[in-house]
Amino acid sequence: MKIRTMLGDITKIQCDAIVNAANTSLLGGGGVDGAIHRAAGPKLLEECRTLNGCQTGQAKITKGYRLPAAYVIHTPGPIWRGGENGEEELLADSYQNCLKLAEAHGCRTVAFPSISTGVYRFPLERAARIAVGTIRAFASRASSVDEVILVAFDPQTKGCYDRALEEARS
Ligand code: APR
Repeated sequence: MKIRTMLGDITKIQCDAIVNAANTSLLGGGGVDGAIHRAAGPKLLEECRTLNGCQTGQAKITKGYRLPAAYVIHTPGPIWRGGENGEEELLADSYQNCLKLAEAHGCRTVAFPSISTGVYRFPLERAARIAVGTIRAFASRASSVDEVILVAFDPQTKGCYDRALEEARS
């Protein structure tokens, strides 16, 4: 399974599934959540309304509608509250549960934003290491997913994920 980073807008990526850094209501918001809903169109929210929300660290899948991606996998990452409330485990759960759903739907390529490092204020370096570690650990059990793209919206974020990948490979 290949893992690579890129700098850009996840709503533009032509892949099987993009991941949405959602909130537990799954009814949209700002940041990447807002961008995905704007790009997908109103039918995404219509489908999300049928899902009855999603717990932190869990994941639910919908169609992609007007997005180039076939699916959107929604996961509420943890809100950073200092690190003593299971935030690291919950962030790992978000990555793992998204990959499990992608596998279950036969996805080959999956794109992730930097979950929880915006509004939810999870420290970026720690989040990048958890993301890379969780995705690499999943690789050995992956059968359909063979490429994961870590999409950064700014150069600083991309640099963190590049360093986390380099560290993991060394
Ligand atoms: N493409 C890729 N990444 C993006 C995009 C985009 N179009 N827009 C924003 N991002 C990046 C942010 O720059 C940040 O690095 O996604 C990362 C996650 O930031 P947030 O979107 O704020 O997500 P998060 O920190 O997980 O907070 C989730 O914010 O938008 C609300 O409804 C959402 O309540 C939820 C909370």
